[in-house]
Amino acid sequence: MSDRIYLVLLGAPGAGKGTQAQLLEEKLGIPQVSTGEIFRYNLKNQTELGQLAQSYYDKGELVPDEVTIRMVEARLAQEDAAQGAILDGFPRNLIQAQALDEMTAAHGGIDVVPMFQLEDDVVTLRITGRRVCRNCDRVYHLTFNPPRGENCDSCGGALYQRNDDKPETVQNRLYVYYKQTSPLIGYYFAKGLLEVVDGAKSIAEMQEQLLKRLASRNIEAAKSAVSA
Ligand code: AP5
Ligand code: MG
Repeated sequence: MSDRIYLVLLGAPGAGKGTQAQLLEEKLGIPQVSTGEIFRYNLKNQTELGQLAQSYYDKGELVPDEVTIRMVEARLAQEDAAQGAILDGFPRNLIQAQALDEMTAAHGGIDVVPMFQLEDDVVTLRITGRRVCRNCDRVYHLTFNPPRGENCDSCGGALYQRNDDKPETVQNRLYVYYKQTSPLIGYYFAKGLLEVVDGAKSIAEMQEQLLKRLASRNIEAAKSAVSA
């Protein structure tokens, strides 16, 4: 029986996973769980996990599975994830996908896997213009989704450019995506969970499309958000 909602957002770097997850959180009442954000928090605070992740993160390589899987397991066990979670950036290979299946099996497994489809040259444009709030992690884009002033609209925090958004690292992140993560498209398609969303649409259009797809998959909170 499915007593929790687990969504997995799939898509290349810069496809809009984080942006859509932040918008969905409120509508669905379940938290975004972004492995990239957890790593960035630990890098910023120079924790043991941050020190371990640093060299992989800076090159755009995947942090080793055993570390990442343990981290997600601990995150999904937290109280705010008692109704489920929106997974953003996890899983990123088949080993992680199988681990997530095991973690969620007792709660009916994964419900839907929206996959954001986008051309590589648009991805690069998205990534180079991205700015992120150092305090609350809200994501902006200098052209497509600019803040009203110099700082974060939500909390006033300073905006910065991510370390791994340099052009040479972006190329490697795309390579890693195609090599290691894209096989998950087939994995979830075969399970009947995949919903392909047009990632080239505006942020608002993508959100609408996403909610409609989730509603069609019987996610109750999405049904009310669509009709609202
Ligand atoms: P992570 O932080 O997950 O990075 P990513 O997958 O490369 O994805 P991004 O965050 O770059 O893109 P996004 O799809 O979230 O796009 P966004 O919404 O920001 O991972 C970073 C690193 O951590 C990895 O390289 C790895 O080292 C490590 N890591 C993470 N997870 C791991 C795992 N599971 N295993 C091992 N290692 C892991 O949007 C991009 C920009 O476009 C923004 O500026 C936004 O404002 C703008 N935008 C968004 N939507 C639109 C739209 N519709 N129209 C116009 N602009 C838009
Ligand atoms: Mg992101």
